Amino acid sequence: MSVDPIARLKDLRERATLGGGAQRIADQHAKGKLTARERIELLLDPGTFEEIGMLVTHRSTDFGLEAQRIPGDGVITGYGLIEGRRVAVFSQDFTVFGGSLSEAHAEKICRIMDHAVRLGVPIIGLNDSGGARIQEGVVSLGGYADIFLRNTMASGVIPQISAVLGPCAGGAVYSPAITDLIFMVKGTSYMFVTGPNVVKTVTHEDVSFDQLGGAETHASKSGVAHRAFANEAECLDGIRAALSYLPSNNLDEVPRQDRSDDANRECPELDSIIPDNPNKPYDIKDVIGHVVDRDSFFELHADYAANIVVGFARLDGRSVGIVANQPAVLAGVLDINSSAKAARFVRMCDAFNVPLVVFEDVPGFLPGTEQEWNGIIKHGAKLLYAFCEATVPRLTVITRKAYGGAYDVMNSKHIRGDMNFAWPTAEIAVMGPKGAVEIIFRKEIEQAPDPEKALERKVQEYKEKFANPFTAAERGYVDEVIVPRETRRKLIRALEFTHTKVDANPKKKHGNIPL
Ligand code: HXC
Repeated sequence: MSVDPIARLKDLRERATLGGGAQRIADQHAKGKLTARERIELLLDPGTFEEIGMLVTHRSTDFGLEAQRIPGDGVITGYGLIEGRRVAVFSQDFTVFGGSLSEAHAEKICRIMDHAVRLGVPIIGLNDSGGARIQEGVVSLGGYADIFLRNTMASGVIPQISAVLGPCAGGAVYSPAITDLIFMVKGTSYMFVTGPNVVKTVTHEDVSFDQLGGAETHASKSGVAHRAFANEAECLDGIRAALSYLPSNNLDEVPRQDRSDDANRECPELDSIIPDNPNKPYDIKDVIGHVVDRDSFFELHADYAANIVVGFARLDGRSVGIVANQPAVLAGVLDINSSAKAARFVRMCDAFNVPLVVFEDVPGFLPGTEQEWNGIIKHGAKLLYAFCEATVPRLTVITRKAYGGAYDVMNSKHIRGDMNFAWPTAEIAVMGPKGAVEIIFRKEIEQAPDPEKALERKVQEYKEKFANPFTAAERGYVDEVIVPRETRRKLIRALEFTHTKVDANPKKKHGNIPL
């Protein structure tokens, strides 16, 4: 008796939908995790998902695998919409062989990535996997390498976003690591190259999964994760939010949302935000919050290298990337981690045509052997290089200190800043007044009848001459000195003026950014 083909298809679809079965789905839920399909439902606009490769199974016959073939083979791939825009997605199903990556599983991921690149749409990977399918051996390792190559080729062409929603261990971490954004969930996701047991054997350290590679660890200590969310629903919502700032590919313009805030709105609070004492901190996030469209700031790496702030925002509906020194943390100094954090963000924005808006209040680079021996020279150079090569519209607002090399680095005019504004409180100089006069007037001060008074007088002289924005403005290094309350309007108009900017770098295979 022949089987009704439609009934057969229905049966296969049901088996695919059940993944590893009801018990494993219950186990997944008991861990506070959603299933691969539930995640896709939450990620995409309702009812828009179309699956590709639902019936693919593995081809392995070792270790009794031939008797365990589950349609889909542990990864769901397909496409759908986010806020009406097309995206490609893969979602690993931990209920099927622990979401482990077989040859067929890898082929499915590669296929959807290839579609994404050819169509110019973002690819979103929802990772939840025990790594290489152990039974398949080297074939599985090859599958990973096929994915790594595609991640690299797609880098800077389409946005690639990774959510790590369960285990991600061994070499498997390097696929998310190459992507543009990594989002994790507190308590249920972890990433490490070697797990706690190996760590214990090799270094004798006792460390838990969470301490070693949990969401909070990677969001604060390593900087691997861009954000750590309280639960999966918030994480998936975060992906939707992040995509709202990015174009679908490197040839597209950034999306412009409906204007939600008055472009001419003044920000009177900013007129008094800089403390009288130049050594007193203030929170640059307050400045950002006042200037950008209401509630539009989407911060990345908030708990890592907090002396620099990076994230997306909108100005009059247009996406921008914000890079801001944070005087409230380490006086906003540039160090190794903050330089690398900001450099990668600048390059992501530049790759995807997101204009850059820089808020500058920086006393310079952090001194000390720890920084020098760990390579502040090469890491600081990353940020300099990233700004130098960026061809997107670039705006700067110097709120207070712009000292030394850091003045050059932070999107100065000399390295192709398009519109550079300064508040009247700006201090643009080689170094702070006290340090400067102690060097150039050391003898004179020592020999003065009252050295303390002499020092004070010289500091005052120096301040009048250099600790202001006017000398730089006279030279044209600052395009305009503005009243702080005008900042939003000035930036929006500058963005309106520069958004059609076309600039290019010399033709080359690729530059040699100091890594
Ligand atoms: C095949 C796997 C698997 C794997 C898990 N499973 N990992 N099957 N290959 N890599 C299966 C289990 O046999 C089990 O099947 C089911 O998935 C769930 O696993 P559990 O161990 O019961 O779950 P849990 O207790 O939550 O532990 C999850 C885990 C653990 C920590 C991920 O499964 C684990 O340590 N797996 C191995 C991880 C690993 O070493 N992978 C290789 C890493 S190296 P049943 O049938 O019982 O439900 C690597 C190299 C990549 O990936 C190289 C790239 C270059």
